[in-house]
Amino acid sequence: MSALDNIAQLREEIQTRLGSASNLSQLEDERVSLLGRSGALTAILRGLGSLDPAERGVVGKAANELRVEAESLLEARKAQLSAAALDAKVAAGRLDVSLPGRTMPLGAAHLISQIRDEIIDIFCGIGYRVAEGPEAELDFYNFTALNHEPQHPARSASDTFYLVDRSDDEHEGPEPSEVVLRTHTSPVQVRTMVRDEPPIYVLAPGKVYRRDTADPTHLPQFTQMEGLVVDEGITFADLRGTLDYFVREMFGADRKTRFRPHFFPFTEPSAEVDVSCGICGGSGCRFCGNTGWIEILGCGMVDPMVFTHSGVDTEKYTGFAFGMGVDRIAALRYDIPDIRILVEGDMRFLRQF
Ligand code: PHE
Repeated sequence: MSALDNIAQLREEIQTRLGSASNLSQLEDERVSLLGRSGALTAILRGLGSLDPAERGVVGKAANELRVEAESLLEARKAQLSAAALDAKVAAGRLDVSLPGRTMPLGAAHLISQIRDEIIDIFCGIGYRVAEGPEAELDFYNFTALNHEPQHPARSASDTFYLVDRSDDEHEGPEPSEVVLRTHTSPVQVRTMVRDEPPIYVLAPGKVYRRDTADPTHLPQFTQMEGLVVDEGITFADLRGTLDYFVREMFGADRKTRFRPHFFPFTEPSAEVDVSCGICGGSGCRFCGNTGWIEILGCGMVDPMVFTHSGVDTEKYTGFAFGMGVDRIAALRYDIPDIRILVEGDMRFLRQF
């Protein structure tokens, strides 16, 4: 076969092989084997020297033409294949706008907040409004104005969190301006009476703090709901009627209440209120300690001493107050035997509400 035939055959081979490379890396392999240093075309160009001079010119020209042609074929194929590769990449990453979105989990109010709001709704429905006070409270509002004797046990540093350390303090009785974490929401009673004129119908929800060890029925920080009514002609019967109404709204019409005499420094007379056990219906079970009753709140007629501390005319007005643990109401409502689970942040538990 003549050298020119050789070149013609190589041209055909180059055209087919470059044309059929189906991706860029195959094309590169073909380039190396056809046009590279040890490729067929290089071999022809290298062999030119051994041809006789007459042939050398013609063959050399043809070989060079083929090289130029092959290079431009290669570039064209490369451009084609890169465009196809880009198209494929775009197609693979295409956004399907008809796919459903990823849903974000929706937050919800904590059970304690839900119950707090429910209690507020019940009382706002009969004309109460919400009042607030600080959690870091002056001794005066938390104890003194509420008729606690200087030596009252609730004032001890083992019951109450003092924001100023008094552990090695020998002093007798409280400093009136001492700051405590409020131990109940009752100081809001005093703040409200100092600020507003009767008639007063308020509800004061909020966090309170006691140096208690957490157990199934106690938490060192919990949520209370205070109620206060000051008006002309308010009697214990109004207090009873109000709390009976509340209990039936909260727990159902079949539940009963029981008022037991009790003592609070800031109400006289005072009572603790029990609700009939929802588990045994009053016959006695483990949940209610076999008594058939569960204590839910403290209450009483506002002591005239508290009115005097708060600037309310004791000749003209009487009133009642009550205070309940929201956490405990929540536990009762859902028969939760241990209130610690309310504040442990276990989503498996909390998501049920
Ligand atoms: N403050 C009392 C407590 O924390 C509850 C209470 C409030 C009692 C109002 C009577 C009147 O135990």
